[in-house]
Amino acid sequence: MIELGVNIDHVATLRQARRGVAPDVVAAAKICEIAGAHQITVHLREDRRHIQDADVYALKQTLLVRMNLEMAAAPEIIAIARDIKPDSVCLVPEKREEITTEGGLDVAGQADKLAGVVADMHENGIKVSMFIDPEPAQIEASATIGADYVELHTGAYANARGKVVEEELTRLRDSAKRIGRTPLRCHAGHGLTVRNLTPVARIPELREVNIGHDIIARAVFVGLDTAVREILDILEAADRTR
Ligand code: PXP
Repeated sequence: MIELGVNIDHVATLRQARRGVAPDVVAAAKICEIAGAHQITVHLREDRRHIQDADVYALKQTLLVRMNLEMAAAPEIIAIARDIKPDSVCLVPEKREEITTEGGLDVAGQADKLAGVVADMHENGIKVSMFIDPEPAQIEASATIGADYVELHTGAYANARGKVVEEELTRLRDSAKRIGRTPLRCHAGHGLTVRNLTPVARIPELREVNIGHDIIARAVFVGLDTAVREILDILEAADRTR
């Protein structure tokens, strides 16, 4: 079964709209846990637009499932990760002007720097994932610097229309095969929804998906518990046919 990490950043987006205390991020995480999520994912952005430092500390204190911290490889955030010690960190590129994480991390282009971050996190007992575009050079570089996981950026697949959808799926499948020949574990995320998840979830090497926006958006209408269970049902059904 593919494991589900629920990204709850946008619960904090809603809270930050009024800079108050509702909706409560820890309560959201607990509902996801009860619904069967395997992990809670949060992105502590340098501009703190949604998740705040206090959220990450509160989640660390209260989570029963694994905690995955998405972050830029920036000294300030690395120091927080060392202090909090989440189960894993997922290194992502970050631009202040972007609405969401637009592309994958260029691991091949900054291998020396990222190898240092991987070693640092490992010394602190934290697993490391690289959020990368589905490209051979990025997979090979992630394996070379000793990352534990790679998370394939599924944004291009999610945004594709017409025959490009199949092309993007092929890139994801080929990348997953390549990852299967390395010690890396294959994860995927970004832009996945109840409508586009099934073909990705059928990729045999895939072990984890991280899904945020679609779950929180549907939760507004159907409730968070149902929104998480909908995704878990899709993962289970896909697992039976892969
Ligand atoms: N994985 C990573 C590395 C991300 O940066 C994000 C967005 O924060 C997600 C998964 C979740 O993407 P979405 O909110 O589109 O499901």
